Amino acid sequence: MAKVLVTGANRGIGFSLCQLLKARGDDVIATCRRSTPELHQLGVEVLDGVDVTSDKSINLVAEKLRGQMLDLLVNNAGVLTQESLQDLDFAAIQRQIETNAYGPLRVTHKLLPNLKSGAKVALITSRMGSIADNTSGGMYGYRMSKAALNAAGKSLAHDLAPRGIAVAILHPGYVSTEMTGGHGSVRPQEAARDLLQRIEELSLDTSGTFWHASGQILPW
Ligand SMILES: NC(=O)c1ccc[n+]([C@@H]2O[C@H](COP(=O)([O-])OP(=O)(O)OC[C@H]3O[C@@H](n4cnc5c(N)ncnc54)[C@H](OP(=O)(O)O)[C@@H]3O)[C@@H](O)[C@H]2O)c1
Repeated sequence: MAKVLVTGANRGIGFSLCQLLKARGDDVIATCRRSTPELHQLGVEVLDGVDVTSDKSINLVAEKLRGQMLDLLVNNAGVLTQESLQDLDFAAIQRQIETNAYGPLRVTHKLLPNLKSGAKVALITSRMGSIADNTSGGMYGYRMSKAALNAAGKSLAHDLAPRGIAVAILHPGYVSTEMTGGHGSVRPQEAARDLLQRIEELSLDTSGTFWHASGQILPW
């Protein structure tokens, strides 16, 4: 039985990941800002009040988990707002960078003592963070935040390799969640299944690769 922590677990892809992990018998710690009856009904350990932008909040998680070792950390929590060049909102851009880029780095850093040798770290990023794949512009905050997350993921892959910890940088696909207003080409359950498949296949040899959940390697 693997011990797994998932951030942003109260809905969307994070919730589906917790559902699947629990169903396969893993010991799941689901963190979120505000829990839901559905999450409680899963029978996983729920830590609520966990905001990935807050040092205080993540310090509390680290304190709670002191001495507990994780096999897998899934940094899933994220936020998206739309900014065009005509309508730049720097507060919104900053919020996305704090949540999507600093958040996963903060959580991973604070939980380093909890990652056992051979553990895995998954960063749920977006192909919107790919500079090579940007064919449509706009989305300043989201694109910048996920590009920064991808850069952090590559450094984490290098820095954690000596400890035997592999890092996956994963785009989940276009998934029908609140983030997309319910639009998408895959359902959260399918995205979660594919993401777990990629995480299963992850090794130190492939650490630091940017993948689509389908298995396709994405360009930086
Ligand atoms: N859906 C897609 O097509 C798609 C595509 C590419 C990448 N992604 C990425 O996939 C991940 C999950 O997204 P989703 O589609 O499942 O979106 P979602 O349904 O909007 O869920 C986002 C999750 O992140 C949490 N969150 C946001 N800000 C947070 C914070 N400061 N601290 C802690 N939790 C926070 C939300 O919690 P609250 O309920 O508290 O807000 C929620 O649990 C994100 O990283 C997203 O960027 C999604």
